[in-house]
Amino acid sequence: MLLWYAQNGRSLPWRKDRDPYRVWVSETMLQQTRVEAVLPRYEAFLEALPTLHALAAVPDEKLHKLWEGLGYYSRARNLKRAAAAIEALGSFPRCHDELRKLPGFGPYTAGALCSIAFGQRRAAVDGNVLRIFSRLRAIEEAISLPSVRREAERFCLAEMPEGADPGAFNQALMDLGALLCTPKSPRCGLCPIAAHCLALAGGEPARYPRRAPRKARAHESFDVYLFLRGGRALLRKRPDAGLLASLWEFPHHLEQEPELLGEPLLSHRHLFTHRVWEMRFFLAKAPKKTPEGCVWLSAEEILALPMPSAMAPMRKAAVKALDLPI
Ligand code: ADE
Repeated sequence: MLLWYAQNGRSLPWRKDRDPYRVWVSETMLQQTRVEAVLPRYEAFLEALPTLHALAAVPDEKLHKLWEGLGYYSRARNLKRAAAAIEALGSFPRCHDELRKLPGFGPYTAGALCSIAFGQRRAAVDGNVLRIFSRLRAIEEAISLPSVRREAERFCLAEMPEGADPGAFNQALMDLGALLCTPKSPRCGLCPIAAHCLALAGGEPARYPRRAPRKARAHESFDVYLFLRGGRALLRKRPDAGLLASLWEFPHHLEQEPELLGEPLLSHRHLFTHRVWEMRFFLAKAPKKTPEGCVWLSAEEILALPMPSAMAPMRKAAVKALDLPI
């Protein structure tokens, strides 16, 4: 498999060096976010915050802007909190158990850092690796069970060749999962470990991983408003805790329902992990009194604010409306 990786592994920017700070930022971004979505954001983040010290001191608003579009913003806030903790320690802990005490360090992040940055024999089991494991062993239990992940960790360590670079081994598994052992239509004909795969031997590799039935996502339908006044639009900041904490949005669920002006400018559905937002975006009559917590902002100011992906089409439409000659 390491030979396959040497010949087929992806050339990714975070593989250029083993600096723990850079590895940590990349591994945190890559949790729950696809490589393609991380690629354009990774270098920009490191350019803006090149050191642990810069990250520990960054204002939240700037941090959220750098994280815009990557989702799960608590990861960014944990990065900042952990950066301050590491600074207080004096240097990056190299020990798995010490790393696990830091905010945002689960078994995956700690294992990835230990193996990739420090060359230690540690497993780093992400979704790709779990899928490979579940197929190799034809695991019938739900993939989300912590016991399955722990079993996968033991399996990875047992299979890691003596003398191999642990970081290369773990990343080889990740690439195998991303390139060949894909969720649908795995390309088993090209897989260097196909001969060991029980799922393939059973004739139905894509039957794995087995999943617990997913709970239905809660559906929420609501209208979002574009209020315009003197070349500015009305926005508000979300509360500092909870879903999309501290990000900016166009107003919705107002106490006083506004008068709608015409048909919706657009409709947009956004899928979160556990809920769906079905939104209609309306131009609405500007209120005489500015609602509590809202501010009037120019197109330029709106573009500079951190805004969740759920509101991205609305922002585009609002900026277009603000740019129209009056
Ligand atoms: N996903 C998570 N970590 C990764 C890495 N280091 N390379 C490729 N994909 C990843």
